[in-house]
Amino acid sequence: MAAERIDKILSSQNIASRSGVKALIKAGKIFANGQLVKRPEEKYDPTATQFTVDGQPVTVQQYHYIMLNKPQGILSASRDQHAPTVIDLLPEEWKRRDLFPAGRLDKDTEGFILLTNDGELSHKMLSPKSHVYKLYEVCCDRKLTQEDVQSFAEGIHSGEQVFLPAEMKITGEYTALVEICEGKFHQIKRMFQTIGAQVVHLKRLKIGGVWLDKNLSSGAARPLTESEITALLDRKHGIES
Ligand code: URA
Repeated sequence: MAAERIDKILSSQNIASRSGVKALIKAGKIFANGQLVKRPEEKYDPTATQFTVDGQPVTVQQYHYIMLNKPQGILSASRDQHAPTVIDLLPEEWKRRDLFPAGRLDKDTEGFILLTNDGELSHKMLSPKSHVYKLYEVCCDRKLTQEDVQSFAEGIHSGEQVFLPAEMKITGEYTALVEICEGKFHQIKRMFQTIGAQVVHLKRLKIGGVWLDKNLSSGAARPLTESEITALLDRKHGIES
């Protein structure tokens, strides 16, 4: 891994804020590979260096994976001058980790968004070739029928645009669960428009094999567990499963 400044490395691990790490360096409390660290500008390979802070070893976690229950009205971006973003919702200590949203949810869509600094995993999760399915709960403005289910199963065509076959399960007169493995711009809304329905509410419930945590209130976030990180790229699908 590329070398980074020691204050950046340790603040990303929740040891202290950047100024807190500088103070620890000044107090002579930080060692890298057994050598006293003298300046915050010193650079180290974060995963190939043994750090101690106040005599305690620090294990550097290179990648971070955070599940956020995105509320409506929040942008899926790292920063924006005018509107709050998903990163703005995180606790201060997680904001220092160069996290970005892996994929986008529309401003008025809520639910599961993954925040990570792992570009490779993000790319795999979003590529249709990886067959990682995403499950959405949809409410629309007209009654849904078995013909709609059939249209989705056959694949929707909208002008030049072709959407791959998708599973829809009707859950109420106006509501359904829909599973897709592509992530085209406004995809669910456009698929419904093609069958003559407007989406009035949209929530993402699942990515790969990972469900949105039911205990995570709107706007709250938590790190994924080890097994959830592995399950993100799960290719199993089927709404019943
Ligand atoms: N499809 C949409 O139309 N919007 C989203 O936010 C996600 C999927």
